[in-house]
Amino acid sequence: MFSDIFRSRIIETTIGIGTVVFVSVLTFQFLKKPRKISRIIDTMEALKKSNVHIKNRDHVEEVVSQFIKDGPSKLQVISDFDHTLTRIHLNGKQCTTTYGILDQGPFCTDEFKEKSKSLFNHYHPIEVDPNLSRAEKVPYMLEWYTKSVLLMPTSGISKSSVPEMVETSNVCLRDGCDAVFELLHKKNVPLLIFSAGVGDMLKQVLQKKNLLLPNIKIIANFLRFDEKDKLLGFKDELIHTFNKNKGSIKNSDYFETLKTRNNVILLGDSLGDLDMAAGVQNLNSILKIGFLNYKIEESLQEYMDNFDIVLTDDQTMDVAFVLLQSIL
Ligand code: TMP
Ligand code: MG
Repeated sequence: MFSDIFRSRIIETTIGIGTVVFVSVLTFQFLKKPRKISRIIDTMEALKKSNVHIKNRDHVEEVVSQFIKDGPSKLQVISDFDHTLTRIHLNGKQCTTTYGILDQGPFCTDEFKEKSKSLFNHYHPIEVDPNLSRAEKVPYMLEWYTKSVLLMPTSGISKSSVPEMVETSNVCLRDGCDAVFELLHKKNVPLLIFSAGVGDMLKQVLQKKNLLLPNIKIIANFLRFDEKDKLLGFKDELIHTFNKNKGSIKNSDYFETLKTRNNVILLGDSLGDLDMAAGVQNLNSILKIGFLNYKIEESLQEYMDNFDIVLTDDQTMDVAFVLLQSIL
């Protein structure tokens, strides 16, 4: 009898406490601050893919919001060319760089072809080696580019072959590159293509797609030919993977004329590409988008530490396009 009363008291007390807790939780939910509206970048489908890596989403959100607020008149875009605007692979086959165009097909001597390819096989693994520092790579890159240029007079390549060389090569712009170029052109946003590749080939790749638009400026290694149009080497001082900075665009008033465009989107595939914006005047905000093409697992952390958005094995321009669409 006594224990029945005791049991029912315990049940009543438990129900009482339960009710108090329930009401308190409801009240807390009701009174607490409204949930933060989701970030703009979180609404972008292209940024939700598993190959999109962002170390600091708040930072990216802050920069993108700033760019949206400032609009097209404050923006400029700086991009690398080889394996940034162009694909790494297509239908299971590796796509070449602008240098590769030189040693493909019947336009050059077999000796040049063989030597160029063996230079590539030796130096390219060094270029993308995650265990070597930038300082350790620089002398090798200089050696590679210098040897490549010294080989050029033996190539037998003539100026008139350039359009056909590009036509028959497998250099291919990333999917959606045309949409990005057309949008930038439409909104009068300057695009600097800053390349350590071969300028003549780069121009021809764009020309054949009708993408050599007036808002584009190209800084690259342009070819020098003799009076009989035979290839001799490069015209100007060498641009290589790790000197893509303001030193390589001296005598150019490019950034001076754009000094009111303080917001920059930078696109690159090498850590050396991070220097491309070094000459920008009065830089306000920069959004760095990196394509990680080689040694993905080993290099991902370093790329995420240096680029704001890292895209692994992405053969498209979807992320850049969706961001530009929201800004422009
Ligand atoms: P980029 O600055 O436009 O990316 O161009 C340089 C790329 O070209 C860089 O990734 C190294 C590559 N390259 C070759 O593929 N073959 C060569 O002979 C040389 C010198 C560079
Ligand atoms: Mg590149």
